[in-house]
Amino acid sequence: MLFDKTTISGITVANRIIRSATHDGLADDNGAPSDKLIKKYEQLAMGEAGCIITGYAAVSRNGVSPYPRMLKIFDDSTVEKYKELTDAVHAHNTPIVLQIAHCGRQTSSKAIGMQKVAPSNVFHAFYPDKAKELTDDEIHSIIDDFVAAAVRAEKAGFDGVQLHGGHGYLLHDFLSPYGNRRRDRWGNNLENRCRIVELIIKGIKAATKLPVWIKISAEDNRKNGMDIKSAALICKRLEAAGCDAIEVSCGTVQDGMNTMRSKLMPMDAVFKYREPCASFPKALNKIALPMANFVNPLIKQPSPLENFNVDNAKTIKDSVSIPVIVVGGIHKVSDMENIISSASADFVSMCRPFICEHDLVKRLKNGQEQARCIMCNYCGLVIEKEPTRCLYGKVK
Ligand SMILES: Cc1cc2nc3c(=O)[nH]c(=O)nc-3n(C[C@H](O)[C@H](O)[C@H](O)COP(=O)(O)O)c2cc1C
Ligand code: SF4
Repeated sequence: MLFDKTTISGITVANRIIRSATHDGLADDNGAPSDKLIKKYEQLAMGEAGCIITGYAAVSRNGVSPYPRMLKIFDDSTVEKYKELTDAVHAHNTPIVLQIAHCGRQTSSKAIGMQKVAPSNVFHAFYPDKAKELTDDEIHSIIDDFVAAAVRAEKAGFDGVQLHGGHGYLLHDFLSPYGNRRRDRWGNNLENRCRIVELIIKGIKAATKLPVWIKISAEDNRKNGMDIKSAALICKRLEAAGCDAIEVSCGTVQDGMNTMRSKLMPMDAVFKYREPCASFPKALNKIALPMANFVNPLIKQPSPLENFNVDNAKTIKDSVSIPVIVVGGIHKVSDMENIISSASADFVSMCRPFICEHDLVKRLKNGQEQARCIMCNYCGLVIEKEPTRCLYGKVK
């Protein structure tokens, strides 16, 4: 069943294993895919991933990530290069879905060259500069940006688009009462908090023939934030608005390692790639790093480490009739098979395991029992300065 050909929202897939969206840090100067990125995705396709979801692509200038070389899809001039990407992936009979995003509060005004925007000005521990609360007109303009991005995606030959509605980015911030403190028609209750996403889905449906997926955080670990009960209600509403598939994740960037869990913080990578630690004088690091390594085992990490969104995916699957994809700590074939056979989700997706082994699905089909990725999260830190890669054991 796991390795059988099937369809998801009209897209034919060779199996039920999807490469979840992964920022690759390989966009060119215009935000279009570079030749290196196209090669990387071609390898993923040759490695028999059932479907590839791209790394997040910004829909607006003020929605760009502070991570270097993020994909951008707010300019028509990028469409040609995106078409090269979809052609290269389709040549291996693999579908490709563009993840479209607005970073909202999870960027810095310095990185985007203007004041960042959000539903409400809520303090963010990693990006402490003040966000401007969006006006009605500005919200409509962001809705238009998402729709225009999807129109470009269709022109470029993508099989679908996925809205990034999780991990603390702009759409998550609207959906979650933690990030959305508004008292107008965009906030205050669940119906209003869903409005922006519903209008984006309807707008894309009216302007293109593409299936529209969404990735959500079913829980965000914030006080008065998103919980599974509200997430299930939200998914029901989004299905009614025309959403074609839901990928279930969790957490926000502020949660540290909740979204992508690991036994320990990779402290040497923190000191090499994360500011302000990365800019500490070398002499200070010589003292600070051993101290950090000493306290590291005492820092409480989220648990469980494996299959950590499966229960929430099941709850959501029981409340909708569109396909559900689950991501997060999945790496054993036996677990993938159980997830599908127990109807906890219709598809499984992975991020870090594909960073480690681009030909992962081929290997699993040929008898490898689990992904080799040890979920150490070095790759989750390297992206703050450099292109994404598996760095386990290589940080000096
Ligand atoms: C290097 C890296 C880049 C990521 N980029 C994205 C992204 O662009 N969009 C997204 O929705 N999630 C992104 N994520 C989160 C993953 O898609 C996934 O939800 C999370 O890592 C848990 O899955 P895993 O245990 O299979 O890695 C990223 C994670 C990592 C480690
Ligand atoms: S650095 Fe490599 S082994 Fe570690 S989590 Fe990332 S992909 Fe997996």
